[in-house]
Amino acid sequence: MLADFGLILGTGVSHHLDSVSHREVHVPTRFGQTEGLLFELGSAKWLGIRRHAFGHKLPPHSINYRAIAEAMRLAKVKACYATAAVGSLRADWAVGTVAVCSDFIDLTFRNVTVFEDSVVHTPFDEPYCTKARGWLLKAATSFELEVRPEAVYAATNGPRYETPAEVRMLKTLGADIVGMTGTTEAICMKELGVCYSCVGIVTNLAEGLSEQKINHREAEEIARNVGAQVFHLFGAVPSVALAS
Ligand code: HPA
Repeated sequence: MLADFGLILGTGVSHHLDSVSHREVHVPTRFGQTEGLLFELGSAKWLGIRRHAFGHKLPPHSINYRAIAEAMRLAKVKACYATAAVGSLRADWAVGTVAVCSDFIDLTFRNVTVFEDSVVHTPFDEPYCTKARGWLLKAATSFELEVRPEAVYAATNGPRYETPAEVRMLKTLGADIVGMTGTTEAICMKELGVCYSCVGIVTNLAEGLSEQKINHREAEEIARNVGAQVFHLFGAVPSVALAS
């Protein structure tokens, strides 16, 4: 089962797959099975995977990141895109901001690797795929949607949200956004040689930065609304990639 592009659908965005006709596929990998969907978007064949599984069942620490990344490698995608709901660590990045990750700080301490039994030290000087990020940013120029071209993504283990002191620490470390899944996913993708780009969708200001309490339902709703535009943006990527 081959695909031109991959798409990992995060919180709130998964159900946009329902708007395109798709076929469900089981992808067996050496790291376990994952469930995917094959669909057409922008005249290209895509392999989509719901990060949290159908019905948003899996918490961030239970996701089989290795199987997802291996599925993308086996499908030989040119690039794998992802969406991730995130908290903003910056007062100037309001709810609804869309930012393409350019670097990360991994504070999950999950230590997930595809190299359990061999000594492989993968360079991470380019944590996200510059080529895929470039295609996405070029595609975004013909959209109304404003996209921040660079963002440092900090990941915490969750599933709880951060404390105000942790948020102050993350800001001090130089992170722009915070989430619970993006770094583990990026690590597995990079280790397996998959060209991977992640789009953060700000669903809330991080804890302590706003009077408003974080509410997961509301966060899902925001990711769903903004995610509709981001989903269409992905559809413009194949023609940009073809022309480059
Ligand atoms: N923190 C961690 N993960 C998140 C957040 C947050 O504030 N918002 C959405 N995912």
